[in-house]
Amino acid sequence: MTKPNIAIFASGTGTNFAAIADAIDERRLSAQITLLICDRKDAAVIQKAEERQIPVLVFNAKDYDSKNSYEQMLLAELEKYNVDWLILAGYMRLIGQTLLTAYDKKIVNIHPSLLPKFPGKDAIKQAFDAKEKTYGITIHYVDEGMDTGEIIAQASFTPKGLQTLTGIENMMHQLEHELYPQTLAELFK
Ligand code: GRF
Repeated sequence: MTKPNIAIFASGTGTNFAAIADAIDERRLSAQITLLICDRKDAAVIQKAEERQIPVLVFNAKDYDSKNSYEQMLLAELEKYNVDWLILAGYMRLIGQTLLTAYDKKIVNIHPSLLPKFPGKDAIKQAFDAKEKTYGITIHYVDEGMDTGEIIAQASFTPKGLQTLTGIENMMHQLEHELYPQTLAELFK
């Protein structure tokens, strides 16, 4: 397959964005990030894209009267950049029918729990508060639900000894940064 063009959707820090960009630079992943789409103008991920000269589109959902109207705007941009895949990395909005229809089976998300356990916000804290012994992450296709799409890959670990929430979070993120680029490399073969 020729190198796919990907758009990364992110709302936050962007460590997964950086892990994917690094994997591309180091030729562990054959793809091109043609666009970062971000719905928060103060998100740290924006700087990470700018440092790498990756185009950034920032939008404010409140400027649009519906999900359909901002997704129509995003779709026009995605088409302009010939984007093949939408890669969600900490994007804090549900994807609507406009993008789901245009990118059928071409939208992927990473979630920090062993789905179907702990969907939604603060998944790591949910698992920590539930005193889980085993933690893990999931990479899945996106459908209209909240973290409900078909699972592509999962990885887990059982921490030894007493752990803090911060310690668990660090281990989870490290695992994400390994598994996301690896899984995308498999998917794009
Ligand atoms: C990650 O934990 C990811 O699983 C979740 O949001 C977080 C994004 O972190 N969907 P970052 O912005 O990539 O650092």
